Parts: sequence; C-alpha cells; structure tokens
Amino acid sequence: MRHALDSLHPITRRGTKLRVGLQDVIVDYTVSPLATPGEPPSVLIELQAMDRLMRISREEAQIANHQATRALIRGMAHEIKNPLGGIRGAAQLLEKAPSGTNVGEYTQIIIEEADRLRNLADRLLGPHVLPKVQQVNIHECLERVRALLLAEAAGRLQIRTDYDPSLPELQADPDQLIQALLNIGGNALQALLENPNPCEPPVITLRTRPLRQFTIGALRHRLVLRVDIIDNGPGIPLTLMESIFYPMVSGRANGTGLGLSIAQDIVHQYHGLIECESRTGLTQFSLLLPFDTERESNPELRRD
Ligand SMILES: Nc1ncnc2c1ncn2[C@@H]1O[C@H](COP(=O)(O)OP(=O)(O)OP(=O)(O)O)[C@@H](O)[C@H]1O
Ligand SMILES: [Mg+2]
Repeated sequence: MRHALDSLHPITRRGTKLRVGLQDVIVDYTVSPLATPGEPPSVLIELQAMDRLMRISREEAQIANHQATRALIRGMAHEIKNPLGGIRGAAQLLEKAPSGTNVGEYTQIIIEEADRLRNLADRLLGPHVLPKVQQVNIHECLERVRALLLAEAAGRLQIRTDYDPSLPELQADPDQLIQALLNIGGNALQALLENPNPCEPPVITLRTRPLRQFTIGALRHRLVLRVDIIDNGPGIPLTLMESIFYPMVSGRANGTGLGLSIAQDIVHQYHGLIECESRTGLTQFSLLLPFDTERESNPELRRD
C-alpha cells in the first residue's frame, strides 16, 4: 500500500498466499492509489481468489509443455529424416554405379542434402556473431522489411504503413530487428499468398505506437515501442495457436517452424515480448520493445 501511495501507480501481485482464519487462500491483488483533491490519500484494494484457477492453469501449462516438446522432437526428426533419405539414396546409387559412369549427379545430391542439414543446425543454434547494438530508427528497419516483402510478393500484395514519427530511437542491433520483423512479415505474406481470400485483396499493415508505463514480465517500463504486423489472411489454425512460438511447430507443408521462435528469442534479448491475436481475416503480431535500458524496477513486482 505504501509503495502504491509513494509511486502513485497501481501495483498487482499474483498468486499471493493469504491466511484467512485457519485457512490459506491464494489471491491476486491490486492496490490502486486514489487521489481525490481535498481529501487524504487513500488506496483501493481488489482481491481475487485464485485457488481453482491456478490449479487449472498449471495443469494446462503442463499438458501444453508436453505437447510442445513432442511436436519439437517430431519436427526435428522429420527435418533430419528428409535429407538423410536423400543422402542414403544417392550413396546406394553411387555404390551400384558401374565404373566409368558420371557420378556427379549423386555426389551433388549428397552435398546439397548435407548443406540442408547444416543450415538447419545453424538456424537451431542461432547466429554466431555478437549483436552490434546501436541507435536504431525502427521505421528504417520497417521500411527495409517492407521493401523485401514487396519484392518477394512481386505485385501480388499491398503493404500499408501507419508510423508514429514521434517515437525515439531504440538501442538494438538493426540486423536482428529486421530478422525478427521479416520472420513475422514473411509468415503474413505466405499466409496471404498461399490462401488468397477471393473477397479481399491481400494487405499487410505495419504500425508503430508508443505505450507508456507498460509492464512486460515483472518489469514496468516508462516507454515501450509496439510494432504491429497485421494481415487480412485466413488466420492461425486454432490447433496451432498455443504453440506457434515453439520451435519446429509449423502449419505449412514446407515450413521448418523456426521463424517465430527465432523472432521471439531476438525480442527477449531486448527484454521485450511478441504477442499474437488471430481470427479469420485478421492476424496481428505485436512486438513490444522497451526503450529504457535502465528499467524502472518495481521491487513489489520483481519478487514474483
Ligand atoms: N500471419 C499468419 N497467418 C496465419 N498463420 C500463421 C501466421 N504466422 C504464423 N502462422 C502459423 O504459424 C506457424 C509457425 O510459424 P513459423 O514462422 O514459426 O514457422 P514456419 O513459417 O512454418 O517455418 P519457417 O519460418 O521456419 O520457414 C506457421 O507455419 C503458420 O501455420
Ligand atoms: Mg515462418
């Protein structure tokens, strides 16, 4: 209560144990400072019992984790099996080839498939260069992504922009930001072009907005950048919705399912978060990136 009054910001704690009579109850609570002119300062305390909800969400999280691990292992096995099949087949043909035949075609397959495996391993391991953090204008990154997507779409797609020019610069590696934005934008492009909607022309919208006093995880930030990448495509299949950020989860026949997991990794490095909402005709990915590097930490929240 004192902290809320001193900082003049509401404070929320989740999953706190309270003793009521002889029983322990788990509650979420929010303490909001109320400042009425001419009256002494006061606070509003809201308590919500969470026992049952907590148990359900914990069980659901366990099941979801297990399913994601299974999907990861199956996806990885699948990605490895394909090139291995090619390598084995080419080696068999090589073995049987009469001497003197030109075996270049078979050795080429072996080389290409081995490269495919190496590329997969490289993507799984992530970049091996250190990020080059500098002042970045997010709109320059977005314009780059826009140009790349338009080139790939070759006229089959429109990209609208809705930028807030008052946004300050970020401290980040521009290549990493472009990679994260491109992974998300690329998915939107694929969703739109692979499943064209006969009623509406395909459109991607890139939007930037500031968020003030915004909490990500357990830290409140004075100013956060929100970048929205919106498409009017078919939406994310319901069965995938919970797990799209896990590696190797893909809804596309030739997708590796790494794009979003890499994007989320990059954004996490900058203490940010990617959120997603989707329904038929509207899918929105939002990158939330804090501007302040020395974050305004809140001891009450950090203990969670
Ligand atoms: N904008 C979108 N609209 C519809 N579905 C989407 C969208 N973005 C992501 N998805 C779904 O989420 C899945 C996971 O995306 P992710 O980028 O992680 O992997 P991928 O695109 O399948 O493969 P990769 O990016 O590694 O080539 C996609 O396969 C697709 O089914
Ligand atoms: Mg992708």
